Amino acid sequence: MTLSSGQTMSDAAPGRPPRHVAIIMDGNGRWAAKRHLPRAAGHRQGVEAVRVIVRAAGELGIEYLTLYGFSSENWKRPADEVNDLMGLLRLYIRRDLAELHQNGVRIRIIGERDHLEADIVALIEEAEALTRNNARLQLVIAFNYGGQNEIASAVRKIAREVKAGRIEPDEITPDTVARFLDTAGVPDPDLIIRTSGEKRLSNFLIWQSAYSELVFSEALWPDFTPDRLREAIAEYDRRERRFGGRSASGA
Ligand code: IPE
Ligand code: IPE
Ligand code: MG
Repeated sequence: MTLSSGQTMSDAAPGRPPRHVAIIMDGNGRWAAKRHLPRAAGHRQGVEAVRVIVRAAGELGIEYLTLYGFSSENWKRPADEVNDLMGLLRLYIRRDLAELHQNGVRIRIIGERDHLEADIVALIEEAEALTRNNARLQLVIAFNYGGQNEIASAVRKIAREVKAGRIEPDEITPDTVARFLDTAGVPDPDLIIRTSGEKRLSNFLIWQSAYSELVFSEALWPDFTPDRLREAIAEYDRRERRFGGRSASGA
């Protein structure tokens, strides 16, 4: 293998984890249906998978883990299911916050907070404030998140800056846009995994995924294990990321 200038052997070594892994956790409903259980049981089991995968991500040396928990389109579901999903975020933060904090996890929630219940917003703020100085693993939870809304919101903020004379329209670059997204300061995901066999982004990180590697797992989210995560990372390791350039082999 030839190394380009500036690249060290350890940078190129296979098995080195992707810096940022993002997961579209899909298939809770089908997991429950297969067992003749209510969908809520699938969502509850999904939270157990979250706990296991967050721990595994820290052990694998992943720096950023983003989990898609509730999309801006998930409000279209029946009210009782929406309530179940809201309740599970509450439960997860209440039950796991202290342990996550002890383990050096920094929590950040992306998405719109305006239409969330006040107690959920308070919990989110508490989790972010308590863990803000942690650095072992950054856990980003996309909740009431939609990529198109995120970009529209960034455009509104930039328009206000332009109106106030603080930004010149001609100065606006992709970096400017990125600075106004909810993910400002978070590197773009190297690897996006979607479980349950569906092959689409469903409005997840649509700006940030420009050069992400996509890996689709057939496992339903509650069945997704650390081994499956390792398999997805192995698949990522076999990919060659070119970012529009030429193959390193010259072919
Ligand atoms: C993922 O599971 C959880 C959320 C979208 C919140 P689903 O509820 O989408 O499960 P399926 O896709 O119906 O199986
Ligand atoms: C995407 O899953 C949203 C989350 C995983 C939170 P959905 O199940 O909502 O996506 P679609 O509707 O199948 O595209
Ligand atoms: Mg689904």
